[in-house]
Amino acid sequence: MSTPETRVAVVTGGARRLGRHLCLTLASRGYDIVFLYRSSDEDARTLIQEIGDTGGKARALKVDISLKDRVADAFADIARNEGRVDLLINNVGNYNPQDVTQLDPDVWDATISSNLNGAYYCCYHALKLMPDAGSIISIGMAGLEGIRANTRGADYFVSKTGLLVLTRALAKGYAARHIRVNMVSPGQLDNSVDLPPPDEIGRWVPLGRSGTLDDIAQAVLYLLDATYVTGVNIDVAGGYRL
Ligand SMILES: NC(=O)c1ccc[n+]([C@@H]2O[C@H](COP(=O)([O-])OP(=O)(O)OC[C@H]3O[C@@H](n4cnc5c(N)ncnc54)[C@H](OP(=O)(O)O)[C@@H]3O)[C@@H](O)[C@H]2O)c1
Repeated sequence: MSTPETRVAVVTGGARRLGRHLCLTLASRGYDIVFLYRSSDEDARTLIQEIGDTGGKARALKVDISLKDRVADAFADIARNEGRVDLLINNVGNYNPQDVTQLDPDVWDATISSNLNGAYYCCYHALKLMPDAGSIISIGMAGLEGIRANTRGADYFVSKTGLLVLTRALAKGYAARHIRVNMVSPGQLDNSVDLPPPDEIGRWVPLGRSGTLDDIAQAVLYLLDATYVTGVNIDVAGGYRL
């Protein structure tokens, strides 16, 4: 069980890529980390070791967050072991774009189940373990406020827009407890599956470069410090989709 001074961060999809980077960043800020992952056993093992080697604490739970009962089990485990959740990062965001005229209902279901339903299940259980002044940060997608029709990836954009609506509702609902609920939205990260070549990126990203994992971590850290900010989405995207 954690001591009263320990702060616990739960990160979904934490074993690889952006989630892993956020786990490392938060561990370096003194959070005990519990990350959820679905299949990347080896990455999960090395992340626990990497955080341990630098004096931090990390634990992994293998759980498909689209499954309501598995999420309940995972948070029951966290309740027994850590006893609290100070910060939840909803990082899972599957992107398997298909044209909307061909969009397979199974792909639709899988995207909404992981990206939106899974995030809600995690919020629901994390909030029960969250002390006053805790935080939830969801990872979105740049341009959500003024979203234009996009024929590829409608399921993904619907899931991210839903997550923004949920973010705002929870922010208002939990403000009396000073629990802040926000979103950070990347545009084109340098590990993106859709990344244009360097000489073309300026056509899509006015600031002329792709984003780094550190760019996103910086915004997450800002939100953790910014105790008067709730219910917002911060695009960290170099002007992508402006
Ligand atoms: N990369 C970009 O350019 C970009 C741009 C805009 C927004 N974003 C957002 O940033 C976030 C992170 O992006 P990313 O590219 O790092 O993500 P990613 O590689 O697609 O996924 C991160 C992890 O999510 C886990 N995951 C997927 N479904 C899961 C489920 N049902 N239950 C538990 N874990 C699950 C996977 O774990 P396993 O490996 O263990 O299966 C995966 O490693 C996402 O929300 C994404 O939408 C990214």
